Parts: sequence; structure tokens; C-alpha cells
Amino acid sequence: MQSTLSSKDKTVTNDSFKTEIIAGFFTSPKRITSKFFYDELGSSLFEKITTLPEYYLTRTEISIFERFLPEMAAAIGPKATVVEFGSGSGTKTRMLLGHLLHPRSYIPIDISRETLHRSAMELSIQFPQIEICPIHADYTEEIRLPGLRAADGRTLIFFPGSTIGNFTPPEAESFLRRAASLVGPRGALLIGFDRRKDPRILEAAYNDSEGVTAAFNLNLIRRIDDAFGIHIPAENFKHYAFFNEAKSRIEMHLVSLEDQRFSLDGNEIFFSKDEHVVTEYSYKYTSESFQMLLKAGGFEVERRWTDPKDYFEVCYATLAD
Ligand code: AVI
Repeated sequence: MQSTLSSKDKTVTNDSFKTEIIAGFFTSPKRITSKFFYDELGSSLFEKITTLPEYYLTRTEISIFERFLPEMAAAIGPKATVVEFGSGSGTKTRMLLGHLLHPRSYIPIDISRETLHRSAMELSIQFPQIEICPIHADYTEEIRLPGLRAADGRTLIFFPGSTIGNFTPPEAESFLRRAASLVGPRGALLIGFDRRKDPRILEAAYNDSEGVTAAFNLNLIRRIDDAFGIHIPAENFKHYAFFNEAKSRIEMHLVSLEDQRFSLDGNEIFFSKDEHVVTEYSYKYTSESFQMLLKAGGFEVERRWTDPKDYFEVCYATLAD
């Protein structure tokens, strides 16, 4: 989630990690939730992914901001309160806050206390005039933002990075509904998503030639080793990513290269050769399908901006009546 992902799961306890890993290995197909990518090493591998030649998403979204932020800021208007789900390296946040007219406050919401306070500290140095109110919470769950409705500018939810693509469409819709109910009547959303395109371009972005995405995916095996005190040779699994056309999503899997069995806290787990574990979905939308998703979530698209290749889109949407 662009910047939004940095070490976001530092507060996931070893117990909840273990419980979710074991539960995911008893489903069919086996699953590991993608939130577990982002421990310290995973977060730094993700930062590296965002700079790879094949991974066009981050660079393209930034180029859209560089070109259109004045228009975006004009649409948002003065004295906005900016709410960001997730906080991290903050490049795009700084760009946005630097363009808004007299922004009132910035409310980053993050599951990692450390990430939250670091980004709040950095931003308060750069933007001393903006009130910064970090909230420590899991933004995929119910959150309250006390006092927001009294603000005299808009409340804007900023959700860049195509992070929305890592939710399934029903999850994305309920996330948007919760976002809509948070922001009040003059609320708005500035959101980035990756557009559906030639599968070769999509697949290259998740199968980079340096193998960084493979390392990011295989890092999950190392995390399992560490948490359970076992040793699964990383070479027993391989990274696999492909574009599922029917579902319009990149799927990342780990594939077992042999029959293997291991014990996780007394639970016997068996992998057959060629068995897949799903580790991530990254949905790709057309402009129209995304507009429909926003509508289902309670938002109406007002403006949208893309890049010259139509690879990525940033939408400004307000609450539907
Ligand atoms: C964070 N998220 C938008 C990234 C994506 O493209 O879905 C995560 C990622 N997975 C592999 N590469 C990047």
C-alpha cells in the first residue's frame, strides 16, 4: 500500500499470527493473508518493489499527482481534514498536504504504533501549521473519528497506492461504506487504483527480473519458521504470480515443490507436490468497474485523472446523495 504498508503488522502478536497461519492451512485452497507480508523485512522488500522497473504502479501514481495535484486541491477546497488509512514513508501524503489550501488537520490511522508516530513526527516538522492527530487502530475494522463533523472544510479520505485492490470486491465495498459513514455529509475520497491492462504488463510487475517480489512472497516462509521455531527450507516453495482474467486480479501463490509435512504447534500440516497457497489478490479495475464499486460503497465520482498510458487512475469522489 505504497507508503501505507511500512511494517504495518508490527503489532500483530505472535499468537494471532500463529492462529491465523494454522487456520489458513486448514482451508482449501490453503491461504495466508497478505497483511502478513509486512514485517520489517517484508516492508523493506515492498519499498524496493515500488522502485523496480517492472512495478509501474507507484511511479505512475506519483506522476499523476505531480501533474494534477493543483486540480485535485482545487476540487477538495480549503481547510480540509485529511484522513489516511495506513501511514508510512508518506511521500504522497507530503505531496498532497503541500498542495492543499490551509489544510486543517491530518489524521493517520495505522495498526503499527511505531509507524504512526514516526510519520506523525516527520509531518509535524514539515507542516507545523497542520494539526496532526494519529489514531492507533486497524482500519479494516470499525473506527470512530470524534469531532470531525464540526470541521468547516471537507473531510477527505486519502487512500492511494491501489491498496483497495488487495481487498476482494465485497471487502472493498464494505470498506468504502465504512469510510463513507466516517466522513460526514461533505466527505470526500481521493483514491488510487491500478487499471486492468495487457496481462503481460501486469504479470511482469509481479514477476520482476531481480526476484524481489519472489523474495517478498517467500519471506512468509521465513516468518512461519521464526514464529513456530521450525525450519522449512525456502527452496521447498516457489513464488508464482499470474493474472486471473475471469476475476480481473493478479494472484500471488506459493507452490510446494515437493510432498512435505511439518508440525505447527502440534498441528500436522501436509503439502502435496505442486499444491498452492494463495498469498495475495491484487484486483485490477477498469474505469467503469471502479466507478461502480465506488457507487456501491456510497460514493459518486466527481473527477478522475490518469497517466498518458492509462495504466493507473486517481479518483476524487464525494458522498452520493
Ligand atoms: C500494496 N499493494 C497495492 C501491492 C499490489 O501491487 O497489490 C502489493 C504487492 N504485491 C506484490 N507486489 C506488490
